[in-house]
Amino acid sequence: MATVLVVDDTPDVASLMARFLERAGHDVAIAGDGLHGLRMARANPPDVILLDIMMPRMDGLEVLRHLKEDPELHLIPVILVTAKSDQQDVVAGLNAGAHDYVAKPFTREILVARVASAARVKQANDRLVEANRRLQEEIAERERVQRELAEARRLESIGHLAAGIAHELNTPAQYVGDNIRFLKDALSDVEGLLNRLQFLVQAAKQDGRSEGFVAKVEQAMRDADIAFLAAEVSKAIDQSLEGVEQVANIVRTMKEFAQPGGRPKQAVDLNRMILGTLTMVRNEWKYVAELATDFADDLPPVACLPADLSQAVLNLVVNAAEAIAKAVGDGARGKGTLTVRTRRDGDWVEVRVEDTGVGIPESIRDHIFDPFFTTKEVGQGLGQGLSHARSIVVERHGGSLAFETEVGRGTAFIIRLPIADSTKSAPVDDRELAAAHG
Ligand SMILES: Nc1ncnc2c1ncn2[C@@H]1O[C@H](COP(=O)(O)OP(=O)(O)OP(=O)(O)O)[C@@H](O)[C@H]1O
Ligand SMILES: [Mg+2]
Repeated sequence: MATVLVVDDTPDVASLMARFLERAGHDVAIAGDGLHGLRMARANPPDVILLDIMMPRMDGLEVLRHLKEDPELHLIPVILVTAKSDQQDVVAGLNAGAHDYVAKPFTREILVARVASAARVKQANDRLVEANRRLQEEIAERERVQRELAEARRLESIGHLAAGIAHELNTPAQYVGDNIRFLKDALSDVEGLLNRLQFLVQAAKQDGRSEGFVAKVEQAMRDADIAFLAAEVSKAIDQSLEGVEQVANIVRTMKEFAQPGGRPKQAVDLNRMILGTLTMVRNEWKYVAELATDFADDLPPVACLPADLSQAVLNLVVNAAEAIAKAVGDGARGKGTLTVRTRRDGDWVEVRVEDTGVGIPESIRDHIFDPFFTTKEVGQGLGQGLSHARSIVVERHGGSLAFETEVGRGTAFIIRLPIADSTKSAPVDDRELAAAHG
């Protein structure tokens, strides 16, 4: 039935108990003193321990203390075996975590019944521990699947945005190329000029006279249009550097964006990250909106998961662009405005993504954060953008995501993040409650 360890320094008592218990169907081992008992329990954890209190070397209460401190053994029920006079020790023992006690002299029935009761408790405990272990495994598995899903979503976003990103990379690449070709032509003009100058200087030396020389040099410089070259070369270099910077920015954001999840938070320059995200998805908004940015210059680095946060901002920007597109139609009414602001507010930073789009009708305001809620036509959108953004901001960063909106005028989504790493939930933002006073 159960394995029982009897720890008692009186051999007669120990073997009597063993006999009773074996007859009741248990497996019994005997330890002749406390130290021994502890060693045997560690080597081979039993289901129940019968522990004598009065023993040399290490008494029962001390053994009990060691057992309860040991994470491998602390769940084993311990029954103290005491003499009638040990009342105080019994109380101390029960307070220290003993399961029960048996007073000497004991009857067979009492001993067997108490051990059976302790064994039942142990069994129930074992089942709980096992159930808990399985639960932990399931949770770990679910977390793994969630991480994979988040990563799949991120890659899907990149796939979806690929054409736009390619375009954004191609434009600077093209003018960097044009400029470098121009620089090559310009250089060959300069070379021609230098050759001519050298020839003229040589000729002037041989003549020994310099009349007409200055005029000819001047003519040569006019021919080469040195002033124009100098201005254009410098412009071409500046433009090329700008283009290269833009390419680097997009590539860096893509790299951050595609980074696998499950990494620790990093201190991030939010303004730079947002600018990178806006550049990466420029193709999504540039046809319908002018961009205005209002970035606080006193933003401290914010502890965050850059790939996730960038995804959240991206979802808001894409929604804003879609709302503006609905408002400006084919563009006959001009472009709308996409405004992105950052601001420090005490221990928090605030990111606002504002649009001059159609606004959110009162009737759907309670639903927009629901997974799969969308007003797009079937096949156009999954309705995942906002629910995903909210779980990133609230669950992974301990922040809040709220909005203000007015039908026909536009919408602002507001991300608030704690500056220091904190995944505990943010206090409820009353803006979220009073979210809309459209
Ligand atoms: N800035 C906004 N202006 C107006 N309406 C918005 C705005 N952002 C979201 N909405 C509304 O909320 C709904 C849900 O947005 P969400 O981003 O979750 O899904 P979606 O944009 O419809 O689809 P998906 O993002 O998966 O492509 C949208 O369909 C739209 O009706
Ligand atoms: Mg969306």
